[in-house]
Amino acid sequence: MKTFFIETWGCQMNRHDSELIEGQLRRHGLAPAGAARDADLVVLNTCSVREKPVQKIISRIGYLAKQNPLTTIGVCGCVAEQEAGSLLERSRSVGFVIGPGQTTRIGEAVRAVSQGERPILTGFDAEAEYNYHTIFRKSTTRGMVTVIEGCNEFCTFCIVPYTRGREVSRPLDQVLAEVRLLASDGVKEVELLGQTINAYRCPDSGADLAQLLEKVASVDGLLRVRFITSHPRHFDQDLIDVLASHRNVFRYLHLPIQSGSDEILKRMHRKYTRQEYLDLVGRIRKAAPEINLSTDIIVGFPGETEADFEDTMELLEEVRFGQVFAFGFSPRPKTPAARYRPQISDAVKSARLQRLFGRCDEISRELNHALVGRSIQVLIDGPSRRDPEHWQGRGEDNRVVNFPRCGREEIGDVVEVEIRRAGAHSLVGMIVGGAVRLPTVSNG
Ligand code: SAM
Ligand code: SF4
Ligand code: F3S
Repeated sequence: MKTFFIETWGCQMNRHDSELIEGQLRRHGLAPAGAARDADLVVLNTCSVREKPVQKIISRIGYLAKQNPLTTIGVCGCVAEQEAGSLLERSRSVGFVIGPGQTTRIGEAVRAVSQGERPILTGFDAEAEYNYHTIFRKSTTRGMVTVIEGCNEFCTFCIVPYTRGREVSRPLDQVLAEVRLLASDGVKEVELLGQTINAYRCPDSGADLAQLLEKVASVDGLLRVRFITSHPRHFDQDLIDVLASHRNVFRYLHLPIQSGSDEILKRMHRKYTRQEYLDLVGRIRKAAPEINLSTDIIVGFPGETEADFEDTMELLEEVRFGQVFAFGFSPRPKTPAARYRPQISDAVKSARLQRLFGRCDEISRELNHALVGRSIQVLIDGPSRRDPEHWQGRGEDNRVVNFPRCGREEIGDVVEVEIRRAGAHSLVGMIVGGAVRLPTVSNG
C-alpha cells in the first residue's frame, strides 16, 4: 500500500485520532491521496453515538468496496470497537478493524494486511504507547491535545464508555510538554480534550483540571486555551476561579444538560438536578459574565412526557445558550435506556426537535444581535467558505465571524473586527484595527 485517505465522523476526539492515524501512516511510508477512489487504503474513523451514523458507515463500506475493489478499507473508531469482527464479514475489502484504544497500532495493522492478514485490534491497554510527536496536525493556528481518555459516567443512553473504555488521565507534565511544543511551533489556540475533561486527575500528582488549566494558560505565546467537554457534576469552584482569572482561557463553555426535567435527568443517570445545573450556570456567569454557553440536549428519551419536554423548553429561556446541539434519542446496544419503556415515536421526536431548534435559533439570533456595533478580537482561521475575498475566524467566545480582507493580515493573525450584521449562526463585520501577529516563543 502506497497511498491513504481518511474519512472522519463523530466528535473532536475522533478528529484528533485522525491526526494520530495520519501521522502513523506517514511514518510507515504512506502518502496522502486526493480522494478516496485514488487511495490504496481508505481509513474510516467512525462514530457510533447514534444509529444513523452507523448505518451511513456500513453503506459507505459497501460503496467504497464496489467503487474500487482493490482498495483496502480500514475501520477505526467507535464502530470498530462496537462491531469488531463482524465488520470483516461485511466485505472482503475490510482489511483491518482498530478500536479507539489501539489507534497507535495502525502501522502494525497495515504491515499485517500486506502479509495477507486481517487484524482486529480492540480493547484498552493501559500500557499503549502514546507518542504526541507523531501526530500530524493540519492546522497551524489550533492544536488539539488529549487530556483524559474514556468515560466512567455510564449515562444510561450513551455508548461511549463501551467504545472508549474507562477514564485514563495523562500525566500533567506530558500534557504541558505537548502544549509547549505546540506554542513554540506557532499554534495560537490549544484545545484540551476529554469526554469528561473535568474528571481529570494527574496519575502522578493528583492535580485536577483547574491546576492543569492554570499551568497551560501560563505557557508563553498561547493566545487562547479551551477545554471540552465538561460534565456539570464535576465543575467545581476552583475551575470557575481559573476561568475568571485567566483571560486567555476561552470565553466559551460547552456544558451539556441533556434534559430540563429532573425525572429524565435521574433516569439518564446524569447525577445532577435542573436546579444544580442552573446554580452552576449562575456561578459561572457571576465570575465571567461574558461567557458564551453551549449545550447538548436529547429529545424523546424513553418516557419523556410533554411536561418533561416543556421543562427543557423553559430551561432554554432561563439559560439562553449561544448554541444548542440537540438530538433525537437513539437506542444504543448495551445501554440500559435502549430497554426503557415507553420508547417515544420518531414523529414525536421530530416535532419536539423542530420546536426546540426554532426557539434556539431565535435566542442565538437575539444574543448575536446584541453584539452589533461592538468590536471583538478575532483569530483568523482561513478564507470564508462562501467568499474567498472574506476571512473567517472566531471571537474569544467561539462565535464565527466573517469579514472582508483588508490588508496584509494572514491566517493565525488576530484582528479587531467591528460587528455590522448578525445571524443565528454567524456574525459579519469589518476590520477596524491592524493585524496583530503574535511572536512565536521558544518553550524548549
Ligand atoms: N461527554 C459528553 C457529556 O457528558 O455530555 C457528551 C458526549 S456524547 C459523545 C455527545 C452527545 O451525544 C451527548 O451529549 C448526547 O447529547 C448525545 N448522545 C449520546 N448518546 C445518545 C443517544 N443514544 N441518542 C441521542 N443522542 C445521544
Ligand atoms: Fe456519554 Fe455520559 Fe460519558 Fe458523556 S458523560 S461520554 S454522555 S456516558
Ligand atoms: Fe462518536 Fe465515539 Fe466520539 S461514539 S461522539 S466518535 S467518542
